[in-house]
Amino acid sequence: MNWQPAGLIYQARFATVITGDGSPTIRDLGTANQECMHHSGGAYQETQYIYGEAIRLVIKTCPNPHFLVVGLGLGYIEILIACEWLKSQSSGHCWVISFEAEHYWRAQFQDWLAGKPSEIEPIQQLRDDKFTQDYPGEMPQVRDWLREHLILENELTYLPQWQNQIEGILFDAYSSKTSQELWQEDYLIQLLEYYSAERCLFVTYASTGSLKRALKAVDFTIHDRPGFQGKKESTWATKNL
Ligand SMILES: C[S@@+](CC[C@H](N)C(=O)[O-])C[C@H]1O[C@@H](n2cnc3c(N)ncnc32)[C@H](O)[C@@H]1O
Repeated sequence: MNWQPAGLIYQARFATVITGDGSPTIRDLGTANQECMHHSGGAYQETQYIYGEAIRLVIKTCPNPHFLVVGLGLGYIEILIACEWLKSQSSGHCWVISFEAEHYWRAQFQDWLAGKPSEIEPIQQLRDDKFTQDYPGEMPQVRDWLREHLILENELTYLPQWQNQIEGILFDAYSSKTSQELWQEDYLIQLLEYYSAERCLFVTYASTGSLKRALKAVDFTIHDRPGFQGKKESTWATKNL
């Protein structure tokens, strides 16, 4: 890479990594493991593999779907929901509630949404080029759609207006080594109980014992699904769906 974003926060905290499919991800130098947001094999492809099918299923089965995303990061999942929703040409109403603990990522995404030059514009452009290859008709409308249908919040918390309203939970937190609290059984039970609608799909790129116990405790059925590019397992779990 012959460029780096200019901002001081970025330079002190983050590094850009181009993954195997040409799409960018971020290494967070501030986390104990300097964790990357995505698999090195492909940020875009991983998002498609882990979350794409889930998004399409929820859109197909719920006329007015609500998605909850944990971890906005570069916003791949939110953009994918928008592309799939626009492609579906559904006449229903869709909401995306997304949590992101880092003010920096919320601000960059909001700048991009507003069409303002963001500090990480070259990274966002590479990300968008990848989406445009698969969604040439939808990408030009994505920002407008997200401005109307995305609710961007700080760190994961409990919002009464969305209690038991969520049909698609897309859990993209850092791993349990970095974000220990988010992967604890009690924490996950509370999240699932609070947000899941009567019919709900929960997906994430990983699988842990505490997550499986939490899902079973709140009556989700866990389906076997391999992880992305040779990772042993990912998680696909359904409740009445
Ligand atoms: C694996 S990355 C998400 C990548 C993102 N989905 C994307 O498409 O680029 C995890 C994100 O979770 C955020 N995060 C960490 N703790 C959080 C919390 N308690 N609530 C919400 N987000 C959190 C991190 O700042 C980071 O941006």
